[in-house]
Order: sequence, then C-alpha cells, then structure tokens
Amino acid sequence: MCGIFAYLNYCVPRTRKEIFETLVKGLQRLEYRGYDSAGIAVDGPGKTTTDINGNTICLIKKKGKVKALDEELYKKDSLDLDEELGTHFGLAHTRWATHGEPSAINSHPHRSDKNNEFVVIHNGIITNYKELKEYLVIKGYEFESETDTEVIPKLVKYVYDNRENDGVGFSTLVERVIQQLEGAFALVFKSRHFPGEAVATRRGSPLLIGVRSEQELLTENIPIQYNSVQEKNSRNRSDSTNSINSVGDGSAVEYYFASDASAIIEHTKKVLYMEDDDIALVADGKLSIHRINRQAGEDPVRAIQTLQMELQQIMKGNFQSFMQKEIFEQPDSVVNTMRGRICFDSNTVVLGGLKDHLKEIKRCRRLMMIGCGTSFHAAVATRQILEELTEVPVMVELASDFLDRSTPVFRDDVCFFISQSGETADTLMALRYCKDHSALTVGITNTVGSSICRETDCGVHINAGPEIGVASTKAYTSQFVALVMFALMMSEDRLSLQTRRLEIINGLRMLSELINKVLGLDEKIKDIANEMYQNRSLLVMGRGFNYATCLEGALKIKEITYMHSEGILAGELKHGPLALIDKDMPVIMIIMRDGCYTKCQNALQQVTARSGRPIIICCQDDPEITKNAYQTIELPHIVDCLQGILSVIPLQLLSFHLAVLRGYDVDFPRNLAKSVTVE
Ligand code: F6R
Repeated sequence: MCGIFAYLNYCVPRTRKEIFETLVKGLQRLEYRGYDSAGIAVDGPGKTTTDINGNTICLIKKKGKVKALDEELYKKDSLDLDEELGTHFGLAHTRWATHGEPSAINSHPHRSDKNNEFVVIHNGIITNYKELKEYLVIKGYEFESETDTEVIPKLVKYVYDNRENDGVGFSTLVERVIQQLEGAFALVFKSRHFPGEAVATRRGSPLLIGVRSEQELLTENIPIQYNSVQEKNSRNRSDSTNSINSVGDGSAVEYYFASDASAIIEHTKKVLYMEDDDIALVADGKLSIHRINRQAGEDPVRAIQTLQMELQQIMKGNFQSFMQKEIFEQPDSVVNTMRGRICFDSNTVVLGGLKDHLKEIKRCRRLMMIGCGTSFHAAVATRQILEELTEVPVMVELASDFLDRSTPVFRDDVCFFISQSGETADTLMALRYCKDHSALTVGITNTVGSSICRETDCGVHINAGPEIGVASTKAYTSQFVALVMFALMMSEDRLSLQTRRLEIINGLRMLSELINKVLGLDEKIKDIANEMYQNRSLLVMGRGFNYATCLEGALKIKEITYMHSEGILAGELKHGPLALIDKDMPVIMIIMRDGCYTKCQNALQQVTARSGRPIIICCQDDPEITKNAYQTIELPHIVDCLQGILSVIPLQLLSFHLAVLRGYDVDFPRNLAKSVTVE
C-alpha cells in the first residue's frame, strides 16, 4: 500500500545517474506495495534565477509501473546524468491510489508550491485532510491533486512561512505539522531550505532506516522469533548499551529510508526501525532521533539491528514470478516455521515467544483468531484442531467485521492477530481495540519489527521468509503450521490427547516431503488450467478441514485471474449454490478421506445428478473416486488436520497457471497491493 524509498549520500560522491538507479531499484523492490504510479524528487541542475539558497528540486512523476518512471527519468535533458553530487538526498514513491485516480499529478512526491520548497512522500492515510485543506485554501494555498497527502507539504510551508524566528529547524517544522495530522502515516521530507537534510517520521505505517558507513556501528542482533516477552520488550529498552540516540560522526555515510527491509537489504544490513511518533533528522551526515512533545533529556534510544534477510530471498531467480517462486518454496518455508520449535525426538513443541504466557492462555475463556483475507483463512483452517486440542471455544473473525460489530471482548480472552505483513490496518485496529479491553494479545506475523509484532504482548514469527507476490501463498501454509504448533503446545500435558498429538507431529515431520510431491503435480495442473482458462467462473467446494482451502483457493483465483470464483461449504450446497450447477459450470470438489468423506460424496452425487462435471481433489488411490471417470488431482495422504496444507497447493498452482494463460501479470494483480495499511 504505497512504497516509500529515499536515499541520502553524505560525502559519498554519486553521479545523478547512480542516484536515479538507486532510487528506481528501491522502488522496484517495493513495487508490490503499489504500482499505479510512481515518482521521485531529486536536486535540480544547480543555480537558477528562482532558486532559494542556490537549490532547486526537480519532481518527475509518471502514471503506471516503476518501469514507466524509469524510462521517463532519462528523457529529462535538463538533468546532467554524469554530474557528480557529493551530498544529495532523493525521494522516491510508488503509489496505490486511495484518494484520486492513478495519474502523474496525484502521484508522490507532493509539493508545497510551484517552487517545490518542501516535498514529501507518504504511505498511509490522513483522515482529517478535508478540514486541513479547507483551512489552507482560506489561507491562499492552491491545491493541484485530489490526494489527502498534499495537505502535508502545504502545511509545512504554512508553518515555515509563519515561523516566529529564523532558527526553526527542519525537524521542528515537521514536528509541528504532524501534531495536526490524524490518521496513519510514514513520511519522508526534503526541502530547498534545508539542502542535504532529511526528515522522516511515522505513526501507524512502517518505516525503517538503513545505514551504510565505514564507521563501526553498534549492533544488536534481534532474534528472528519472539523468545520471551522480556526479550521482545528489550528492543525498546532505554538503558541498552547497544542502543543509540544518534548515528554518524560527520564522516562519509549513506542512509536509506524505506517502507520495508527488502528495499534496503542490498545496500546494508544495518537498520533502525522507527517507532510511532519518532522524528528522524539527518543533518551534516548525522542521524538523530527524537519524539514529539519530548521532555528535556528524554531522547529515545533506538537499536541498530542487523537484518537476517538475504538478497537472494527477494530475487525471483529462475521463476517467472514471485508468486510461483513462493509456491515452490513451501517445502522449505514450512520447515523454517518449525525449526527450533518442534523436537521430533521427544515429540515436544516449544514456541519461545509464547511460553511465558502459556499458563495465562490455558486459563482463558476463549481464543479469538483475527485477520483479513488469506490470514483469516489460516484461522478458519486451524479452528477445528485448535478447538479439539485446547478444548476452548475458538472464534474466527474478519478484522473489519469484528470492529464494525464492536465485538464484546473480555480480559480473560486471548486474541490472536494473524498477519503476514504485520501492518494490515484493520487487523492493527482490532489489536488496539482488544488491548483497550485488556485481553492478552498474540501476534502471528511474518515481518520482524512490524507494528503487530511490536504491539502484541507476545507472539510467533512464522519465519516463512519475505513474501513479495501480492497473492499470499507460503505465508498461509506457515501460518497454518504455526497455529497447529500452538495447539500442540497447549495440549502437551493432556494424557487423553497424546495419540492424536503424535499423529499430528508425525504429519508435520513428513510435511515438507509431501508438499514436494504435490508440487510434482504442476504439469498436470497446468493441463487442467489449459482446459478451463477461458471460463468466467469457477466454484470450489468442500467441508470440514478442507473448507478453508475452498475459501483460500477461490480467493487466489479471483485475485490474480479475475475470474469469478466462490469457495462453497459443501454442507450449504442444497441451501442455494446447487442452483448454479449445470454441465457448463466448472466445479472443483475436495473430497479427502476424513470425517467428512461420506458427506462430501453425497455432495458429489448431488452435483453429478445435475450434470455437473467436477474435478476432484482427493487422496491418492481412493478407489471410490478413481473407479469413476472423474478428472482427479490425487494428493498424498496426511493426518486430516494437515490435509488443508496439501490441498491448497494445487489451487495456488491452478490460479497461477490460469493467470498466465489469461495474460495477466501474476505479481501485480489489478487494484490490489500487498500490505493494506488503510482501513
Ligand atoms: C490474498 C492476500 C490478502 C492478505 C490480506 C491480509 O492473497 O494476500 O488477502 O492476506 O490483505 O494481509 P496480512 O496477512 O499482511 O495482514
């Protein structure tokens, strides 16, 4: 949901061309967050007659993907690409439209005035922009875009023009401005009045700063999983000897500001995650951080952390798209989710980030699983086994609906927030709502340092590795595994459940190998996609442990192939959906050998009796199914509660092949973006 990238080189000479390349590369890494338009702000070509302090700022913005912007950059004859800039600060942004259509004028950076005195890039949403705009219009400011963002640079200029003395610094201006803003934002500012300086701030939207320097940086390696509440909270300890108030001694240094680590990793692994209401200032090559409304002597201390991510993890390699790569990574990603947590010798499960809270969780009145989209489906997929192994009622909730209903929450509830990005606005709002109601909050996230990870009381990192394809795949299967592990941990001391637990642990032991076998069906699934890619609709039907697969499969199909697709609970078939069935309606049915087998076969009879010709996802060598002439996708057998991990993979592959055959860009589905940071 909009990607922010900015690059400051201090006493490190770079040609304008190199700066363009760095900015564009940064945007390409973030393009999955938004891709309807993009723009940059860089220093202009030296002195002009209208300059202020000899500085000009040049904005280049373009509708379309980052590639279109990249081409545009080299058309600017006025900018000497070979000019070397010893110290320079450039902004870059890729947009996912919320206010105003995708267009060059609505894209970022936005500016204070025609002279570009202040420019800004923004991720998030300003909810009181209408009031601010009205006020600024009365004061004579002219607006050129339809965005909420534009009030921000105008407001900075207003504060600047009305300052009482000349000594007001860049960060103070920004501090005054953000006190007037409501909503969520990550912002990076550049100004002609403060050449070579950068100011960044955030509230509710992620922002981190990478530092590359010859100077020895203090580091603190943050473990990739929550180990304990104490350890988690220690990230913000103000007495930490490994923490800093400022970086840089005025010698050569480069800073990278970005919405997520994937844009920084190829430059440096040393990063600092900003907290809400932090204001970062880089001036004379030194980075300092302070908080709004701070008391004297109360500067925050932030740790420089070392990213665990590798560049290779965010590259496509030999795959056609990130989505395809991520589907094929699942044999490894599920193992990474289990690594160090399940001991297959002793059949024990320890989730380090939850162990200190286990007693409290065991005493809870109910478990609430809250998320959006695919993450919500992971909750649906594991609800049954959670109820079975914890013997506690489990509610699964779509975050937006949960908030709309002002759902009653009590202090003896335990609320799980499931989110790949850890930044989804609805899920984050639901988390804050549950905290206000004193419930214990648990994060299940894939993004270290994300808002949900920081704001929950405890949690589990799923460790699936960066997921870049907009359609979530490996995060789903890892969330699934993490929640099953939680159920196993909760039931460790229940004698009556030991046989069941062993069966599941054995399933997890085999999981990676079995996923590999399912991926081996790729060619067959491609053939099926070839037969159906011209259809307009596709139904996916199942029940019990595989109902979530139907929802998730249908979501994958609609989001990247734009076909109408519905996940249908087979038990609901005769209450309406059966009316859709005829010989032309493509239907996929999931019929596995589990507690719902007979009922699923009944549904199959009802479909075939209406001339339906379903494709059946079933267990390998199921004679009841294979003796008939149905088209089948046969999966290896695994314990019932893990079958949903295997059964979703053919649907991930099918949606991928359908999208390719229909000529769509798999990683950039229309109207969507990864990490939905607006409500
Ligand atoms: C679908 C998809 C979305 C996300 C949803 C929640 O493929 O990716 O439905 O699952 O936007 O995102 P996270 O998990 O980041 O909270």
